[in-house]
Amino acid sequence: MPTYLIYFIHRYLDFRHPELDAVLELNGIVDVSTCYELPETAPKNTTHSPFLIVNLASDAVAQQLAARCVLIKGIYQYITHTQASSEDSSASYADLRRKIASLPWDLRKNAMLDDESTWSLQVDCFGKRLSLQEQNTRRDEITEAVPLCGDIHLKQPARTYWLLEEKGILPSEVTLKRIFFAKSLNIIRFHGRDFVDKHQIKKRKFIGPTTMDHELSLIMANIAKVGPGTIACDPFVGTASVLVASAQFGAMCVGGDIEMQGLYRKENSTIAHNFEQYDLPCPDFIQWDLSQQAMCPRPFLDAIVCDPPYGLRAGARKCSANPKKKPFEVYEPSHVLTDLLHWAALRLVLQGRLVYVLACKTDPNNEYDDQIPRHPSLKVLHVCVQNITQKLVRLFITMVKVKEVASNDVSTAATLDVGW
Ligand SMILES: C[S@@+](CC[C@H](N)C(=O)[O-])C[C@H]1O[C@@H](n2cnc3c(N)ncnc32)[C@H](O)[C@@H]1O
Repeated sequence: MPTYLIYFIHRYLDFRHPELDAVLELNGIVDVSTCYELPETAPKNTTHSPFLIVNLASDAVAQQLAARCVLIKGIYQYITHTQASSEDSSASYADLRRKIASLPWDLRKNAMLDDESTWSLQVDCFGKRLSLQEQNTRRDEITEAVPLCGDIHLKQPARTYWLLEEKGILPSEVTLKRIFFAKSLNIIRFHGRDFVDKHQIKKRKFIGPTTMDHELSLIMANIAKVGPGTIACDPFVGTASVLVASAQFGAMCVGGDIEMQGLYRKENSTIAHNFEQYDLPCPDFIQWDLSQQAMCPRPFLDAIVCDPPYGLRAGARKCSANPKKKPFEVYEPSHVLTDLLHWAALRLVLQGRLVYVLACKTDPNNEYDDQIPRHPSLKVLHVCVQNITQKLVRLFITMVKVKEVASNDVSTAATLDVGW
C-alpha cells in the first residue's frame, strides 16, 4: 500500500485518532491497525508529534480523509524522512540527502523526482516560524544534492515538494526531531478545511450561550460516523450545532428539546436558518422531555450526538409530576445521563454510536473511568478530554451499541462530580 504523511492541526489532541479511525472506517477500512501504528505517548515535557505516517489504498482515500477530518491540516505523499540525532541540523540534512539519493527506482518514479514537469519546494517547520532566508537555506540543502528535474514554477507547479521539519512548541524544544520529505497529492487541489471555516460559530445565524463550537460539533459528527444514508439524532438539540455538522456530512437528522424557542425565536434567526445558511435540508424537531423516554423505543438511529444539560449554563429540567402546580422540576445530572444511555441503547441500531459530552472535575491522574455511566448494551470506545479550566474538563465519550437491550437492563450511574 502507498505511504502517506498526515500533518495534524495541533488542537484537540485527544480527538485525533478517534476522528481519523472513524473516517478510515467510513472509507471501508475494517482494521485501522493495517494503516498505522498508534504512536507512543510523548515523553514528559515534549510536544506530541503532529505527523503520522499511514498506509492507504490510494490517493483517493487520502483525499477522502483530508476532505472530512477536521483535525487534518495536510496529507502528502510520503517520500522519506530522517530522525534528527544531534543538535547539528546540517548532519540531519546530510542524512536526508543520503536517504533521498538511495531511494529505489520505483519510489523515485512515483515521487516524480526525475520528471521534467515544473516543480516547487515548500518549507515548513512545526514549532518555529522560519524566515524566508531560513527557508532558502533549507531549500539549498536539498536542491544542491537532489537535482529535481524540470523548471521551478512557484504559482502553479505540476509537482509540489515539502520539507517538513519537526521541533515542538515548548521553549525547551529547540533542536530538530525529524525532517520529512514529501510531495503534495495531485488530486488535492482544494483546501481540505474550507468546510470548517464556513461553519464558524461567529458567522452562524442562530446561536445561544451553550452553542457547541463548530469544530467540536464536526469532530463529534465524524466520530459518530454519520454520513449519507444514516440517521442522526440530538435529543438536546438547543441551537442545533451538532445536527448542522451531521447534516453537513450528509446524515438525515432529527432533534428534540424541552425548549422550542429555537423554532420561532425571531425572524431570520431560528434553527431552520442555521440549516438554510449552508444549504442543508432542515431536519424535523420535536418538543420532548428526555426523561419521559420520547420517541418509539425501536432501534432505528445510526448515531446519537449530543451535549446534555448539566446545569452550569443550560439547566436540565423535566416535566413535573404535578404540572398544575409547577410545569418543570430539576433534572439531576446523573439521571440525565442514565436516562440518555438507556434511551440511546433502545434506539440505536447495532454498531450505532452515541457521542456525548460530560463535564466533570479535573482528575490530576487523568483517570475518568469512574465518572462514566454504563449500560450493558453500550461499550465505551473513546474518552477524549478537553481541558476547560484548571479545575474542569469536558469528556467527549463515544459508546457503541454492542447488543440489543434485555428487559432487565438498566444504566448504572457514575460517581459523577460535575464540580459545582
Ligand atoms: C447544553 S444545551 C445543548 C446545546 C446544543 N448542543 C447547541 O449547540 O445549541 C442542552 C439543551 O438541553 C435542553 N434540555 C434540558 N432539559 C431537557 C430535557 N429534559 N429533555 C430534552 N431537552 C432538555 C435544554 O433546553 C438545552 O437546549
